[in-house]
Amino acid sequence: MMVEKSEYCIAIIGTGFVGLTTGAGLSELGNKVICVDIDEGKISSLSNGYVPIYEEGLFELVERNRKLHRLFFTTDIEEATNSSDIIFICVGTPSKDDGDVDLSQIISAVEGISNSLNSYKIIAIKSTIPVGTLELVEGILDKKNKVKGRDYDLAVVPEFLREGKAVYDFFNPTRIVIGADKDDVSKVLAGIFSPLNAPVVYTTPLTAQLIKYASNAFLASRISFINEIANICDHLGINVKDVIEGMKYDKRIGGHYLSPGIGFGGPCLSKDLNGLIKMAESYGYQPNYLKSIMEKNSHQISYVIDKLDKLLGGFRPGTKIGILGLTFKPDTNDVRNSLSIRIIKEIRERGAGVRAYDPKGMEEAKKYISDIIFCSDLYEAAKDSDALLILTAWDEFKEIDLERIRSTMKNPIIVDGVNILDPAKVKRFGFLYEGIGVR
Ligand SMILES: NC(=O)c1ccc[n+]([C@@H]2O[C@H](COP(=O)([O-])OP(=O)(O)OC[C@H]3O[C@@H](n4cnc5c(N)ncnc54)[C@H](O)[C@@H]3O)[C@@H](O)[C@H]2O)c1
Repeated sequence: MMVEKSEYCIAIIGTGFVGLTTGAGLSELGNKVICVDIDEGKISSLSNGYVPIYEEGLFELVERNRKLHRLFFTTDIEEATNSSDIIFICVGTPSKDDGDVDLSQIISAVEGISNSLNSYKIIAIKSTIPVGTLELVEGILDKKNKVKGRDYDLAVVPEFLREGKAVYDFFNPTRIVIGADKDDVSKVLAGIFSPLNAPVVYTTPLTAQLIKYASNAFLASRISFINEIANICDHLGINVKDVIEGMKYDKRIGGHYLSPGIGFGGPCLSKDLNGLIKMAESYGYQPNYLKSIMEKNSHQISYVIDKLDKLLGGFRPGTKIGILGLTFKPDTNDVRNSLSIRIIKEIRERGAGVRAYDPKGMEEAKKYISDIIFCSDLYEAAKDSDALLILTAWDEFKEIDLERIRSTMKNPIIVDGVNILDPAKVKRFGFLYEGIGVR
């Protein structure tokens, strides 16, 4: 059993968005942190002061703690496991093609730990994991004769950070959820996060797992809900922003996370919603409401493309579309499951050419699409295009010089999939403009 201390030696397995932010944040709190990844290129970059993820403040945080010798990077899971008191598993849990959760990274991480568990450790899982995962983890450790309670204890500590605000969210968490069967384990984990002064929810591991899935399903539900209302507003000829203004003062509703747009993309919401659906089904329950959130999200993509089609009078051979925004949200370079990329692929299938620009996501996007022109700025993307489609709400796009793009575009058409521009202003510059539920 572990003695409570003010600073620990912590191993972080998986140095992606969650692992790197958590590792850097915990080192800033005074702990010695060793971040492990199987990606040698990533570890070599991080060890040499290059941070492959764009997140405000992350580079400075990593550099400071690396230079203070509190933050280390390695591919050697044995070294990290042996020298740590607590191990946080932060590997990916992506979707399989059928929507089920792919646990292969969890399995390989736990196999690595099980080969080198030399003394008692707390193994805390930050990755989003479905029901049944803990039994799987225990089974792997059991095969190596590692006994729960003697060699290790397990806990589930789900992560709620938002990409684009990851460092801020680490230091200002809305809550810390600790799912553990033993009070001593909960106490140690709560102690680690205590400098952050966040409310702590103590619960069972299974409930902690469901808290994470339910939270993401609820966020997805709000997005699909407000998109539905926005589309109705389009048809009624009223402004969804006025509707939200009148709703938000009701404390039961609130004004957060009510921004109509192209729907939810990114590495988490869809995969976690699918994961929850699969989990419910495997326990004999049909979660039809959750399925309808997902369906609405797919429908929203078609809804936006149809708006473009209508304003263009149909896609023709040679049609050129300028795209602003490739990342799944602003302030990140993450394009995983970005709806912008799905929309670009659909537009390409309809025969149009695409010129695209994103402030931070171009290099990542090149890994997913090649048959488009990547432009050096938003004006290059708009040039000679038949229409401009805005798909990520980067601040930079709010400042667009409408007169300048009006003079270089072939047709003055803007479809604003994220409602970032002022419709009245855009129309004053002579554009045909469509947002989502705005006028
Ligand atoms: N990205 C988010 O915004 C976010 C927010 C909350 C929760 N989560 C959850 O956190 C988890 C991690 O998400 P992420 O976005 O950081 O993933 P990621 O894909 O960015 O990072 C995962 C990292 O784990 C590494 N890895 C895989 N197998 C390994 C192994 N055996 N040993 C060591 N490293 C290994 C990969 O190389 C990769 O660098 C997921 O379960 C996700 O659902 C993510």
